[in-house]
Amino acid sequence: MIDIAGVTKKYGTVAVVDDVDLLIPAGGITSIIGANGAGKSTLISMVSRLLTTETGTITVDGHDIAATRSGELARRLAILRQENHLAARLTVRDLVAFGRYPHSRGRLTTVDREHIDRAMDYLDLGDFTDRYLDELSGGQRQRAFVAMVLCQDTDYVLLDEPLNNLDMRHAVAMMRILRRAADELGKTVVMVVHDINFASTYSDHIVAMKDGRVVHQGPPSVVIHAEPLRDIFGIDVTVHEIDGHRIGVYYS
Ligand SMILES: Nc1ncnc2c1ncn2[C@@H]1O[C@H](COP(=O)(O)OP(=O)(O)OP(=O)(O)O)[C@@H](O)[C@H]1O
Ligand SMILES: [Mg+2]
Repeated sequence: MIDIAGVTKKYGTVAVVDDVDLLIPAGGITSIIGANGAGKSTLISMVSRLLTTETGTITVDGHDIAATRSGELARRLAILRQENHLAARLTVRDLVAFGRYPHSRGRLTTVDREHIDRAMDYLDLGDFTDRYLDELSGGQRQRAFVAMVLCQDTDYVLLDEPLNNLDMRHAVAMMRILRRAADELGKTVVMVVHDINFASTYSDHIVAMKDGRVVHQGPPSVVIHAEPLRDIFGIDVTVHEIDGHRIGVYYS
């Protein structure tokens, strides 16, 4: 479980994450939704300690992240950032192998190599393993970064907009991989997503942020309704029940 208690992040006098209390249960997929600037990336960056908190505490399985050593945290929790800029000229295989660093410290074992090959296979990167990252399309590069995060093999996987740049087939494939990681391997997946229908179809829990606060949360059956969605995004969404999922239509 991730326990976020009284957490605030300020830039100047503006609290972009404002006294948030949130419990993210262990296991399953939790999706964080909300408008641009709502504080989603800031919140998950604080959970992974990429950003410091102003106030409050964050614990992962009871361990206060502020008091956890970096190597220990990296073995417990991995994050995909929203923007991935790497100056180094790396191949896909190098990047994915980098995900094993908290385990291997640079000396890859047979087990490390199995994780690397499996992650590249899951993310359909077989044709690109020796390609440099700057020689890939946006979606192919996104898949390489997700492979790096998954091959870290942590109990907690935080993904900031993992579906960015992905075509329909690869977006669905990505969600199936994350579902399988949750269902079969017991991972806890926390992802930021803009497509409410992906959130609705694949999540166990949805957390909605607005102006730095958590304004709605619950299973899709509770959050994916016209009223909360209007409150969260400021537009009218018509919600239909299709194949057992709540699907919002918002373009007309
Ligand atoms: N370094 C910074 N200095 C000042 N303000 C910042 C900084 N980083 C982020 N912000 C502001 O904090 C707020 C929250 O940003 P955040 O990146 O968490 O939003 P988000 O919900 O992830 O949005 P998006 O959907 O666009 O990714 C925004 O208003 C943003 O402009
Ligand atoms: Mg963001």
